[in-house]
Amino acid sequence: MTFSEMWQQLAEHQKATAAIHMRDQFAEDVDRFDNMHETLHGLLFDYSKNRINEETIVLLCQLAEAAKLPEAMEAMRRGDKINTSEQRAALHTALRSSENAAPIMVDGENIIPKLHRELNRALAFAERIISGDRTGITGQRITDFVHIGIGGSDLGPQMCAQSLYDYRKNVRVHFISNSDDADIAQKLEKLNPETTVFSIASKSFATPETLLNAHAARNWYKAAGLPESGIARHFSAISSDVAAAENFGIPAECVFAMFDWVGGRYSVWSTIGLPLMVAVGETRFREFLSGAHAMDEHFFNTPLRRNIPVLMALLHIWYNNFYGSEGHTTVPYSHNMRRFTSWLNQLDMESCGKSRTVDGERVSHKTGGIVFGEEGVNCQHAYFQLLHQGTRLIPVDFIVPMTTPHQVGRQHRFTVANAFAQAEALMKGKTLEEARAELADLPKAGRESLAPHKEFPGNRPSNSFLIDRLTPFNLGMLMAAYEHRTFAEGVIWGINPFDQWGVEYGKVLAKKIEPELNQAHGLTHDSSTNGLIRFYRKCQQD
Ligand code: F6P
Repeated sequence: MTFSEMWQQLAEHQKATAAIHMRDQFAEDVDRFDNMHETLHGLLFDYSKNRINEETIVLLCQLAEAAKLPEAMEAMRRGDKINTSEQRAALHTALRSSENAAPIMVDGENIIPKLHRELNRALAFAERIISGDRTGITGQRITDFVHIGIGGSDLGPQMCAQSLYDYRKNVRVHFISNSDDADIAQKLEKLNPETTVFSIASKSFATPETLLNAHAARNWYKAAGLPESGIARHFSAISSDVAAAENFGIPAECVFAMFDWVGGRYSVWSTIGLPLMVAVGETRFREFLSGAHAMDEHFFNTPLRRNIPVLMALLHIWYNNFYGSEGHTTVPYSHNMRRFTSWLNQLDMESCGKSRTVDGERVSHKTGGIVFGEEGVNCQHAYFQLLHQGTRLIPVDFIVPMTTPHQVGRQHRFTVANAFAQAEALMKGKTLEEARAELADLPKAGRESLAPHKEFPGNRPSNSFLIDRLTPFNLGMLMAAYEHRTFAEGVIWGINPFDQWGVEYGKVLAKKIEPELNQAHGLTHDSSTNGLIRFYRKCQQD
């Protein structure tokens, strides 16, 4: 069947099954969980609380086949230039492969030895900082490592360093990304330039936010009266434009290359992971890569029906395109993973926020949805009301570590119980009769007026991702699953999940507006933009 025939068939299947309540499906099929979960190493993926039956999955897998997903997966693995608008391969999976992996050729060159050379250099650099072997210019031990980058050059390493806080070594790691000077001012005021090393991370080495902060950091260092020669000991860089980093004044031995076949939001596995290397050390960083590699092996070698990232993508598409759902929330029930959704925002929304197909045609269906989230249990006290009783259908991904290294009272058990309870409540709901029965003690009038407010429709879908512990391996595995989900969605929607032309336009306009903010001459924008600029000018004079 063709893609559009499969699409049509799924639309009909949705109509035929939409009224079925998951509560009844669970009651009728005691094996539902057994048939609708997958395990991989320390991960359990339960997708049984979805508005699907076996036929739905079969049809969705056929849609993936009609979209030539298996062929696209192979093309990605091979290193084909699947990022067609930028004529680049997308080889983040190569970054997690072993040094002995089969050659992957890009432009006639095997990239495996080259990428491992850079990785090993960065890991050795990190280890020298951790061990105290690499000191500052005045001979003091390095206590703080400050990573300056934005978007993909920030979110991945920042989220991971925070997630793996329990594995931290002795060097504190900080992140500066925002051009709002509060970010850099607040971070640097606590630091000593003699014991601080910076990494300037920018694939392009042209991102203005990062360069502004890099210059401010260098000025801060110089303002402390430390010698110019010390820049070489206190600054490092990560970029695919090694020459630009060297021009900034960073010596070649402290510049770590990244490659144009790695997209920014897929780059934490590359030398961009340097702050994570400093945070947790070489052994843990390699475990993190191994976890992602394990998911890659699963993704590339498992039939669609049992393939975790493919199932994740298909379920996302099922709600996005056939149920008209507008958003998807991901909630890690883990304080350390509280930035997971920020990383996922960029991964999914920058990748799938496209309305042209790879061939430049307008897409004929909705593409990327709104990805948002907050750590559990806090989310329950913020936006979960809308998930339970609101008018929109927002599927949830629960991510829950089963054990914790901390033994503070019964906090962890309580947190896990809440995650499980939310998924159950969303699925089951509460009927009007059940609500009335709960209020049996009230007089009839009170009962009748309150019961509708206590009714929950239920039938609200969720996936649960349980990990035995929040380890570097499990984190890598989970992140790779989301990366592959994003890729698979992109393929099925017919878009390119590896470019991001949409963020360029605003950057160009900002370049024009910035000098105008302090100029007296006339403005040629629309009246709103002119009005905003004038207000800015007025505030500078007050
Ligand atoms: O936000 C646009 C973007 O190009 C992202 O894709 C990228 O991760 C980020 O800017 C930073 O880019 P760079 O690493 O080149 O500084």
